[in-house]
Amino acid sequence: MVLPRQPGVAGLTDDDERIALVAIRGNSPGPAGWQKLISEDQLREKIAEIGAAISRDYACLNPLVVSVLKGSVVLMADLMRAITVPARFDFIAISSYGPGQRPSGVVRIMKDLETNVEGQHVLVIEDIIDTGLTLNYVLKMLRQRHPASLAVGTLLNRPARRLVDIDLKYVGFDLPDKFVVGYGLDYRQKYRNLPFIAELKPEITALN
Ligand code: PRP
Repeated sequence: MVLPRQPGVAGLTDDDERIALVAIRGNSPGPAGWQKLISEDQLREKIAEIGAAISRDYACLNPLVVSVLKGSVVLMADLMRAITVPARFDFIAISSYGPGQRPSGVVRIMKDLETNVEGQHVLVIEDIIDTGLTLNYVLKMLRQRHPASLAVGTLLNRPARRLVDIDLKYVGFDLPDKFVVGYGLDYRQKYRNLPFIAELKPEITALN
């Protein structure tokens, strides 16, 4: 299927999006430019695995699990229910990119943690790690607050774009250098509500 598109109009039209989302949600091959990469079942299975590993590793540590908003909110909602040991949860909001898709190197805290992390076993949860710049900043900031331990888990890891080394304790899936949306990840604040991970191909993203 080829998406109808008005020539000269930047981005997808509302109709383009409706057609694409209906097709891809319904497991049909999907319109040009879209491809389901990680299914709901694969996500469920992987999150159960990571939850079990965290529950084992942090059994007696009462960890503070920190979610970096907004992308990791869907993951956090599922992962926290897969963690079977006592744990606490908090949220931090960081702005890492400007309006485009490229890392700007500018990282700002939009919302800080409400928990004092000093002496706590802190596990930071991300939806995706690309350049590592965002997380590098968050980790530096948290280290200055003297946690007892500090570790990172990410659902998606895209090493091809890495600019800073990050030690990852839990990784869901290694991704090739593809642009992905869904399960919390957005393209211009859209598609976070897809229950799976889909690739948005360059013929779509290049429109903007
Ligand atoms: C995404 C993602 C990570 C960051 C990873 O957040 O959730 O926080 O980018 O990129 P990096 O490794 O290149 O730093 P984004 O800034 O898109 O905000 P969002 O979570 O609100 O979608």
